[in-house]
Amino acid sequence: MAKEIKTIGVLTSGGDAPGMNAAIRAVVRKGIANGVKIKGIKKGYQGLLNEEIIDLEKQNVSDIIQRGGTILGTARCSEFRTLEGQQAGAGICKKHGIDGIVVIGGDGSYKGAQALSKQGINTIGVPGTIDLDIACTEYTIGFDTAINTAMDAIDKVRDTSSSHERCSIIEVMGRDAGYIALWCGVANGAEDILLPEKYDYNEQNIINNIINNRKRGKTHHIIINAEGIGHSTSMARRIEAATGIETRATILGYMQRGGNPTCKDRFYASIMGAYAADILCQGKTNRVVGYQHGEFLDFDIDEALAMKKDISEYQYEVSRILSM
Ligand code: ADP
Ligand code: F6P
Repeated sequence: MAKEIKTIGVLTSGGDAPGMNAAIRAVVRKGIANGVKIKGIKKGYQGLLNEEIIDLEKQNVSDIIQRGGTILGTARCSEFRTLEGQQAGAGICKKHGIDGIVVIGGDGSYKGAQALSKQGINTIGVPGTIDLDIACTEYTIGFDTAINTAMDAIDKVRDTSSSHERCSIIEVMGRDAGYIALWCGVANGAEDILLPEKYDYNEQNIINNIINNRKRGKTHHIIINAEGIGHSTSMARRIEAATGIETRATILGYMQRGGNPTCKDRFYASIMGAYAADILCQGKTNRVVGYQHGEFLDFDIDEALAMKKDISEYQYEVSRILSM
């Protein structure tokens, strides 16, 4: 028989992502509508271990849907990777009457959720990461805002790149995944798009491309480089030396994680947060919410973590053709 759920906790973990607040709001309001009490756990698993736990009522999540970051704070917590940390976390949940937790974060955070589930605390994961690198879902909260922020920034760099007839290498986030780079590369009309999943580390190809484009009269050359490849500054130095064309590197960095979430992020976060509260209240555990083919679904966390995701061959091929 499914465990009766009276109180649920909500936490955000790993890197913050725009839309996390909309997800927190949805968990709180849908949970209350379902008749359960809600507790907010601050600063991810670290806050759980430090017992930074607060009561959340409907009004506590007013005026946050439009805000970036996370009102609960987030953290990375190495102690929670240990069995002792996980047992301590489950003990603290029991002490505070928390029967289940919604964990908003990425793959790493799901491993913590999986561990808590093994310790008898019902857990549901919600995909919150700008990286889009969670295999069981086509959408992760924060991705849309991040690519729009990066796209605007890249347009600006392009203006100055054209004015000075420079080559620009712009590095975007994504950890080991190239989704942000692919989307921005296409959307910004980049001349080269370097993805960790595809890059052959042959800089001569890029150099030839720059020289050929310059001969054809192009005044700028935009290279979108993914964080998983990195080394944009040294790459710029080598390219400048080989081509004789001024080359600058811009690393966009944390600006990609901030800012007001787009409509799409607010919407997906709201539905996913509400969905997580619903299945938690139904007594489900060790599940993660996803979005596939127009539907919101949930998957077993163990199975979700074992799934693999890769850049679409077709999308990659098109990106290469359009950049020529
Ligand atoms: P993300 O959730 O964005 O992938 P991380 O990989 O940094 O971010 O994971 C966030 C947190 O999840 C970690 O700081 C840690 O507290 C917890 N976590 C990660 N891996 C594990 C694991 N194998 N077991 C238990 N907890 C984990
Ligand atoms: O997962 C989101 C992300 O911004 C990645 O794109 C990046 O690799 C990582 O987090 C950076 O993490 P930190 O905030 O610990 O520097």
